[in-house]
Amino acid sequence: MYTYDEIDRTLINERVSEFRDQVKRRLAGELTEDEFKMLRLMNGVYLQLHAYMFRVAIPYGTLSSAQLRKMAHVARRYDRGYGHFTTRQNIQFNWIALSDLPDALEDLASVGIHAMQTSGNCTRNITTDQWAGVAPGEVEDPRIWCELLRQYSTMHPEFSFLPRKFKFAITASAHDRAAIKVHDIGLRLHRNDAGETGFEVLVGGGLGRTPFIGKPIKPFVHGRDLLGYVEAILRVYNQYGRRDNIYKARIKILVHELGIEKFAREVEDEWLAMRDTALSLDAEVVEDIRARFIYPHYETLTDLPDEVRSASADPAFEAWRLNSVAPHRLPGYSIVTLSLKPIGGPPGDATADQMDAIADLAEKYSFGEIRVGHEQNLALPHVAQKDLPALWKALDKIGVATPNVNLVTDIIACPGLDYCSLANTRSIPIAQELTRRFANHHTANLIGRLHVNISGCINACGHHHVGHIGILGVEKNGEEYYQITIGGRADEHAVVGTLIGPAVPYAEVADVIEDIVEAYLALRQRPDELFVEAVARLGVEPFKERVYATR
Ligand code: HEM
Ligand code: SF4
Repeated sequence: MYTYDEIDRTLINERVSEFRDQVKRRLAGELTEDEFKMLRLMNGVYLQLHAYMFRVAIPYGTLSSAQLRKMAHVARRYDRGYGHFTTRQNIQFNWIALSDLPDALEDLASVGIHAMQTSGNCTRNITTDQWAGVAPGEVEDPRIWCELLRQYSTMHPEFSFLPRKFKFAITASAHDRAAIKVHDIGLRLHRNDAGETGFEVLVGGGLGRTPFIGKPIKPFVHGRDLLGYVEAILRVYNQYGRRDNIYKARIKILVHELGIEKFAREVEDEWLAMRDTALSLDAEVVEDIRARFIYPHYETLTDLPDEVRSASADPAFEAWRLNSVAPHRLPGYSIVTLSLKPIGGPPGDATADQMDAIADLAEKYSFGEIRVGHEQNLALPHVAQKDLPALWKALDKIGVATPNVNLVTDIIACPGLDYCSLANTRSIPIAQELTRRFANHHTANLIGRLHVNISGCINACGHHHVGHIGILGVEKNGEEYYQITIGGRADEHAVVGTLIGPAVPYAEVADVIEDIVEAYLALRQRPDELFVEAVARLGVEPFKERVYATR
């Protein structure tokens, strides 16, 4: 966990009192909704279909038990008893009253949490691998660099008044769990031939109306040059980004229109003019941040202790262990994923009671630390394997031990028409229906790793382009239709999926997905050929044929 200093605490508290005054003026009618809009967006407050929506940042997806408890408190006290974890390491509250917002922010500030830069045309919450710091084989804890960028970019003018929203993601593992290739800037921490660590920089990735996979712009930027180099990118973006047209304003469009070579040259010129200036980081600055990440006092343990061996006789425990428990960088410890995708439930939601219970379990079994991943699940990063049987029982009791992580029912979905004012269609009920269809664990397990992603409109909040199966809601003559793409992925081999044919009506979506899955089961070469691999090998035709032959 990172410990915030006095500067951060002051900043957060000052923001609360500033916002309290703004809300007061809005409620008194001194500010119109239009005048208030900019101010609320700077604090993560949207106006949605039914109510204000409040988006809170979870920097690099790391939460303490105290922070999660405070979120439970906000959900219970000011909302309807639940919160929604999103794909960018945020939590959203959907039903909050404007008059309660300053109190909610103040409560969150008491545990170092804020909602700054969770909306608007600024650098958003900087995200990373939810296994950061504990993943085996990781080059270095990427959160150190997230934190550095967070401190630098928060309220920095070059990063705060951009042509459009701006998203960074960082990974330090060979397997990318942070989806860096679909971010405006993706950073891959790696070691060069000389054994030094630094960043491969990708730019211009993003989903929405015009999806792009990020393009490599520089293979190696030393850590000391990271701030300077990303600032050079943002300067070029600020200078040339299309502020006149919201649909062309993202950096991905600029990179596409200029071409990556020209864009890279512009950035390089900017960078050469500013390298070795004050933005070149002193080693002490990095060390100071590194030292503020406190790791637990681990015990010396061994893998597969007796407790796990004997519990494995229970098929329910074993199914969960095989699905939801991953190796930790230290022997005898595990990373445990908590599925927020119960069969029939809305993906990513957690109730206040669940959050409280998870906070308690994290204290008991994970040194008081919880992680939030972009797949809308949670994780406990430091669980001693001997505690797994007891932890499983407790997680099962509160409904977060569904053994479906990475399986067909581990669906990413945006709020869609149930909450969102921009939606064309519903997303959540489609997800719920699909989880019921594939509820049988043995079937889901047989199918293997398969990511279904659903968005209720072109904005792509559910990352549908990079779902192995992507479902995009479109409206046709006032009715809900869905376009289906297959073969997308969001990891180190990220690619945008391919449309298989005409959109299908709401009532047929689950049947279509079942058809696609059946086609895959019949066509795969081996049981361990993943769905995305089969699509890459076969193309969309055999799937298209299966879906449309009878429709
Ligand atoms: C309910 C309120 C929400 C609104 C009004 C909203 C609005 C938008 C809009 C307008 C875009 C497109 C931006 C662009 O292309 O420039 C977008 C993109 C996105 N949103 Fe949302 N969103 C909402 C909720 C969510 C939720 C709940 C999630 C996560 C589950 C989410 C995650 C994302 C992501 C990941 C993108 C990615 C597009 C990209 O790569 O840039 N949003 N959102
Ligand atoms: S994809 Fe569209 S419907 Fe879904 S949350 Fe985003 S803006 Fe709303």
